[in-house]
Amino acid sequence: MRISDLAASVSESATMKFNDRANQLRAEGKPVVHLGIGEPKNKTPETALAASSDKLKEGYIKYTPAAGLPSLRTAIADYTTERYGREVPSTNVIASNGSKHALFNVLMAIVNPGDKVIMPVPYWVTYPEMVKLVRGIPTFVRPEPGSLMPDADSVIRAVDDNTAAVLINSPNNPSGMVASSAFLEKLAEFCEDRGVYLIMDDIYRELVFDGGEAPSAYQYTNKPLDSSHIIVVNGISKLYGMTGFRLGWSVAPAEVTSAINKIQGQMTSNASVISQAAAEGALTGDQQVVGELLTHLQDNRNRLLDELADLDGLKVERPQGGLYSFPDFSAFNSDSLALAEFLLEKALVVTVPGVEFGMDGYLRLGFAGSAEDVVEGARRIKWALDPGQPSELKIGDEVVTRDWN
Ligand SMILES: Cc1ncc(COP(=O)(O)O)c(C=O)c1O
Repeated sequence: MRISDLAASVSESATMKFNDRANQLRAEGKPVVHLGIGEPKNKTPETALAASSDKLKEGYIKYTPAAGLPSLRTAIADYTTERYGREVPSTNVIASNGSKHALFNVLMAIVNPGDKVIMPVPYWVTYPEMVKLVRGIPTFVRPEPGSLMPDADSVIRAVDDNTAAVLINSPNNPSGMVASSAFLEKLAEFCEDRGVYLIMDDIYRELVFDGGEAPSAYQYTNKPLDSSHIIVVNGISKLYGMTGFRLGWSVAPAEVTSAINKIQGQMTSNASVISQAAAEGALTGDQQVVGELLTHLQDNRNRLLDELADLDGLKVERPQGGLYSFPDFSAFNSDSLALAEFLLEKALVVTVPGVEFGMDGYLRLGFAGSAEDVVEGARRIKWALDPGQPSELKIGDEVVTRDWN
């Protein structure tokens, strides 16, 4: 059957394969623990539920402007102004079907075929595929060995005349690292000067631990929004644990916003009006839910690290924010795919191989699930990899014996 070259160029996520296998094991009654989870497990905030059900009760569920309801765009602009300390008019905001969609829109609006988009390694699995889908060239900048974040100079050195954008995610999926002020200052000044877009994927920006904050690139530009090359993407998925609503946004200079508006108008029209109402309800409602989520995540991060602390050979960088940690398991197996398969089959724990994020030898361990799952998952990993642990482990109702070294 005829499939386009473009479709053929897109990789399938290995995560899917693991999820399928995990579901199969679960269907067989096996007590699988999922550390691959990429979404908070909280309930939707009341204010979001109320706003979306009010909309439903109205009974008029119709198109909205492609860019979103004016009241939602205003709520997003107000949120950005307040949280980023940068005055943003609502006309620079486009609401889309998730921040993944918002990122696609941005890339479609600014990347020409053959243009490079620079991204630090490790990167979110979707970035290279997104760039390929807009016929750009994903270009990777690796950190120094032992580090999870390249320095700003290395990123800057990768920029050439064919570079459309640099794409930064802070806190980072998968590493949990927050881009420092010094890093962003250097990069923002360089990008503004050179006319290269700096796309900030800020989806985890409020989820920073230990009282810290993720600096914003906006802090390091004096340019008015409409002549600045900084573009911010954000959304409600991680901030409020509202992944299923599929609502994200871009904040971009007027010319880029107008290009995105055209693209979105032709492609999907507006995001669902029910989800737009929910997002507005969340953004304008009580923000206590974000604090609760943050506390849960920080406690879980601590539980995970405490549990893994005595696994000799494991190198863990303490996640500063987000939903994941990204330890170096190369002392056990430098093939992360094989290691993730081994852990699923032997210890019934789902992890995500680092090779998916551009760094083999590492595994992404998510801590967004329940405290019990996080502790149990880490306990099983330790048992499977540490010959010093007792050879028997109770998994569910079964006692399993380690018959490997
Ligand atoms: C770094 C990053 N950006 C964007 C997204 C997409 O989020 P959304 O649900 O808003 O499309 C994710 C989701 O996992 C992510 O990890």
